[in-house]
Order: sequence, then C-alpha cells, then structure tokens
Amino acid sequence: MSQRIEFSKTGDSSVLALVDTTPRDPGPGEVRVRNQAIGLNFIDIYFRTGLYPAPVMPSGLGTEGAGYVDAVGEGVDYLKEGDRVAYAQGPLGAYAQHHTLPAEKVVRLPDFVDFETAAASMLKGLTVQYLLRQTKALQGGETILFHAAAGGVGSIACQWARALGVKLIGTVSSAEKAALASRLGAWATINYAEESVVERVRELTQGEMCDVVYDSVGKDTWITSLDCLKPRSLMVSFGNASGPVDGVNLGILNQKGALFVTRPSLNGYADTRARLEMMCDDFFGMLGSGKIQIDIANRYALADAGKAQDALQSRKTTGSTILLP
Ligand SMILES: NC(=O)c1ccc[n+]([C@@H]2O[C@H](COP(=O)([O-])OP(=O)(O)OC[C@H]3O[C@@H](n4cnc5c(N)ncnc54)[C@H](OP(=O)(O)O)[C@@H]3O)[C@@H](O)[C@H]2O)c1
Repeated sequence: MSQRIEFSKTGDSSVLALVDTTPRDPGPGEVRVRNQAIGLNFIDIYFRTGLYPAPVMPSGLGTEGAGYVDAVGEGVDYLKEGDRVAYAQGPLGAYAQHHTLPAEKVVRLPDFVDFETAAASMLKGLTVQYLLRQTKALQGGETILFHAAAGGVGSIACQWARALGVKLIGTVSSAEKAALASRLGAWATINYAEESVVERVRELTQGEMCDVVYDSVGKDTWITSLDCLKPRSLMVSFGNASGPVDGVNLGILNQKGALFVTRPSLNGYADTRARLEMMCDDFFGMLGSGKIQIDIANRYALADAGKAQDALQSRKTTGSTILLP
C-alpha cells in the first residue's frame, strides 16, 4: 500500500485529497520510483485549476521527484533497482510515495546531489538551462529582464546569469524578495508593485533596453515586457502566474520594434533522451561547481500539498518548496 495526492474535479486547493493506493507495477520501458522528496511547481497549480487539462480524472498531480528505483519494467537497461534517481517530466502523479513513469524521463543522480536538492531543482534548473543556454545562447555581457526573480525558477536564473557574466534585472514584489534576488546574483532589481518597470529599465540600461525578456508572469506583464526590449530582440514568454497571454495581435511585435517571441516549455526542449541528458549534464555541472546553490525555503508533508500550493499561489514563497512523502 502507498499514498498519493489525487483530485477528481478542478478547483481550489481543497480538491486535493491524500488517498491510499496500490502502486502500479512498471510496464515495458517504465520504472517505479520510491520518492524521497517531491518538487512543487507552479504548473501543478495550472493542472489543479484546469488551466491545463489533466488527461484523466481522478488524476494524480506533480511531475517532479527524487528517490530510489524500486521496480524496473521490461526493456530498461540503463536503470536498476536501488539506483538514486530524479525526474522532472512525465505523467502526473509525482505527489506520491511511489510513482511509475517512462524510464527515459528518469536520470541517475550524481553522488553530490541529494534527494531534496534534486526534487527542489531539477524542473526549475532544466528550465533555466534551456532559457539561458538555448532559447538564446547567452554569451556574457547581455542585459536581460527576468520576472519573479526571487521565486523557484528565478532564484536559479539569478545565479546562472551571474556565472555567465550576464546582467540580470530581476522584478520582484517586495523589498525582502529584492534583497534575496540581489544576494543570488541579480545585477539590479525592480519592485514591480511600486516602480515603473519600463522607466527603471530605461535608466538602468541608459536607454539601451534589454537583449532578452523572460516572462513567466504572463497576462499582467506582457505589454511591459515588450516595452523593455531592444529592437529586433527576443521575448520569451514561459508561464502564466497571473493568467495566460491571449488574444495577441501579431502586429504589436512590429509596433514594439520588429521583435521575436517564443513560448517554450521544458517538454519542448528536453524532448529526447539525448537532449535531457545534455541539459542535466549542464545543470548538474553548475550544482557541482558550487556556482548554483538551491535554496529549499519551504518543506511540507505530502498530506499538506494543498497548503504548500496556497503559499506558492499567494506569492508568499521564495526559492523552492518540496513535499516530503
Ligand atoms: N515553460 C516552462 O518550461 C516552465 C517551467 C517551469 C516554470 N515555469 C513557469 O515559471 C514560473 C515560476 O515557476 P515557479 O514554480 O518557480 O514559481 P515561483 O516563481 O516560485 O512563484 C511564482 C512567482 O510569480 C510571481 N507572480 C507574479 N504575479 C503573480 C500572480 N498573479 N500570482 C502568483 N504569482 C505571481 C510571484 O513573485 P513576486 O511576488 O515577486 O511577483 C510568485 O512568487 C511560473 O509561471 C511557471 O509556470 C515555466
């Protein structure tokens, strides 16, 4: 017997329930992981609220975890029982003591990455890997705007940008979050609850504006973000914390300076085993070098997943949150 979080209808966090379940044996190409720590991500809230539809109901929740392989399906030759592993993609259901998923989404952990660090950072770290190294391969010297810079993804982005020699201007909603982002490596911060982001970016860059804007806030910041870019530069819209960006008239990209825009996801970049391994090598390398450290600011019992989501959704958290099964 095992326990997992399930929901049978979409809604607020009260739809989440801890239920007893029999963990599924792995089929061909799958493994079962006995989770030691589970990652909490904003995407979990999109599934719970129905912004992203869950494929089946009742549904499990969560896509990120770390633990031991405890069963291996037919045809899996690169993982064995007892391996220390982590995963950040795959079917919903990581909020659980056991999770069965395709082995090709599961990677072996280097010795220097503990389970809590892996669960707190794999999804967010691989996201920052593709944002800073692939949507545009930053070389150092660029100026970028990164929204929600003190959050889970943002905390890693501040450190990675500093390591690359990129000037990251981070937006945040409080003085405490600004101090944290600066400590982690943001070159400058803007409190978007109080200041004009466009004017501050103009001042900070002496009118040059940014080479790339990374926007996971969505609806509330879309236009502001476009206004912070240099002509012919890149807008990366990668999340919907304030609601999705929709109804866009493409002509606005020309009005704001012949801009480029992309709407990427981790699944769109780590879409093959080879690409997943390449991205993990890069990210784990950054952890191993000490250039990136993971701030596990919040730990909750699995049964309190709803409380953990409420804290994330109400902007109370900084850094990463994990659930302990
Ligand atoms: N596309 C991808 O591949 C991908 C992968 C991972 C994450 N993401 C996206 O990246 C973002 C960050 O994810 P995370 O898990 O690390 O979360 P997080 O950054 O720890 O939390 C979200 C932050 O967004 C900011 N925010 C601004 N407006 C908000 C609003 N109306 N409601 C709630 N929060 C608001 C808050 O920071 P302030 O209080 O400082 O504003 C909040 O702390 C999310 O939008 C997520 O969907 C995308």
